[in-house]
Amino acid sequence: MADNQLLALSGVTLAFAGNTVLDDVNFSIPRDAIVSLIGPNGAGKTSLFNSITGFYKPQGGSVRFDGQELLKLKPHQVTASGIARTFQNVRLFREMTVLENVMSGMHCRTKSGALAAVLRLPSQQREEAEIRAFSEECLAFVGIADEANREATTLAYGHQRRVEIARALATKPKLLLLDEPAAGLNSGEKVALTELIARIRNELGISVLLIEHDMGLVMKISERISVLDHGKMIAEGTAKDIQNDPKVIEAYLGQDDGEGQS
Ligand SMILES: Nc1ncnc2c1ncn2[C@@H]1O[C@H](COP(=O)(O)OP(=O)(O)OP(=O)(O)O)[C@@H](O)[C@H]1O
Ligand SMILES: [Mg+2]
Repeated sequence: MADNQLLALSGVTLAFAGNTVLDDVNFSIPRDAIVSLIGPNGAGKTSLFNSITGFYKPQGGSVRFDGQELLKLKPHQVTASGIARTFQNVRLFREMTVLENVMSGMHCRTKSGALAAVLRLPSQQREEAEIRAFSEECLAFVGIADEANREATTLAYGHQRRVEIARALATKPKLLLLDEPAAGLNSGEKVALTELIARIRNELGISVLLIEHDMGLVMKISERISVLDHGKMIAEGTAKDIQNDPKVIEAYLGQDDGEGQS
C-alpha cells in the first residue's frame, strides 16, 4: 500500500444467499482526507461500512488499514485499530446519560482489568477519571457539553447524532466513518455538521469517510467522491468529475423514488 493511503480495499466481494451486494470493490482513502461514498438506495454503501468494520464478512478481497489486514478482525478489534463509525439510524444506549454513552466508546482503550475495577484500585480510579475528562472534551468539541447529564435518548434528534459522533471520537480513531449523518437534519443543522466534519479533520487530524445523500453537503466538503451502484464502483474523482460523469447521472436517473438527488 502506498504510504499516503490510510485505507485500501481491493477486490472486496460480499454476497448474501447468492445475492451479490459488493462486487469486486476497489477503493482507497488517502491520509488526512475527507472522502464521500455516494450512490442510489440499496447500492451497498452501508454494507461497505459493515465490511470495513467487521460486522459483515466478505467472501473475498482485502481491506488494508494503516498497514494491517482488517478482514479477519472482529468489530472491537477494528475499533481498537483506529476506525470509528456512526450508524445510519442513531443507536444510543437507553437509560444512560449523554456522558455515559460517550464514555462507553472508550472501553476499547482502557488498560485496567476487571479485577482492578472490582477492587476500585487507584490505577483504575485514575483511568476512570481520565475517561470521564476525555469524554467531556469530546462532548465540548461537538458542542453539547451542556447536555452531558441528560438521558441521551431524550435529546433533540440533531443532538443525538452529535452524541454518536462524540462517542466515535472518544475511541481516538484515525478514520471516522459517518453513515448519512445529515439525514433528518434541518438546513441550519446541516451547515453546523459540515463545519464539524471539517474541524474533525483539520483540528484533530482524523480522516473522514462520509456516506451521504445530501449532494450539496457532499460536493462542498469532499476532496474525493466514489460512486457505488448495484455493488460496483462506477466512478471516482472530484465533485466536478462526478457531476459530469454520464455513468453517475444514469445511475441516479434509474432510481425509482428520486431520493438521493436532493
Ligand atoms: N444482512 C443482510 N442480509 C441480506 N441482504 C442484505 C444484508 N445487508 C444488506 N443487504 C442487501 O444489500 C443491498 C445493499 O444494502 P445497503 O444497506 O448496503 O445499501 P445502501 O447503499 O446503504 O442503501 P441506502 O442508501 O438505502 O442506505 C440491499 O439489497 C440489501 O437488501
Ligand atoms: Mg445505507
